[in-house]
Amino acid sequence: MAEELFIATGSKSERYQHLLKQLEFLIQPTNSLIANMANMAAAIHHTFNWLWTGFYLEEKGQLMLGPFQGPIACTTIAKGKGVCGTAWATEQTIIVPNVLEFPGHIACSSLSLSEIVVPIFNSNNFIGVLDIDSKELNSFDDVDKGYLEKIVTLLFK
Ligand code: SME
Repeated sequence: MAEELFIATGSKSERYQHLLKQLEFLIQPTNSLIANMANMAAAIHHTFNWLWTGFYLEEKGQLMLGPFQGPIACTTIAKGKGVCGTAWATEQTIIVPNVLEFPGHIACSSLSLSEIVVPIFNSNNFIGVLDIDSKELNSFDDVDKGYLEKIVTLLFK
């Protein structure tokens, strides 16, 4: 098991490729889902130095805060509310270039300017979302979407 995260330099794609390789070793089915999510959040967060990186898990019909890195965050989010609840309702990854222009965006931190939320499924069952916030506008694009959608599938291999 990797003891230390290697943070690659280079393009965003190159950094994701290194991150993905390390996560393939770090994320193991013998660990609990929470343990795997905790290491995954830490590895993504420190590779890109995002403002906030973490999970919300579906629990009793709402999203409940899960493992994360960054400032303290809202604990519950209703289906259809905010970016996270919308990603759940639509079952689609949502990229928000400017959170101030997303109707209903839930501001856990006023420092967050752009965001990506990736829904997570286990055999078609919705589990929760991966949410990443950036201090800069326009931080996320289809490269993030492609790699992050692949990365979250490691949780249920
Ligand atoms: N901004 C999110 C809420 C979660 S925090 O960003 C950690 C949303 O609108 O759903």
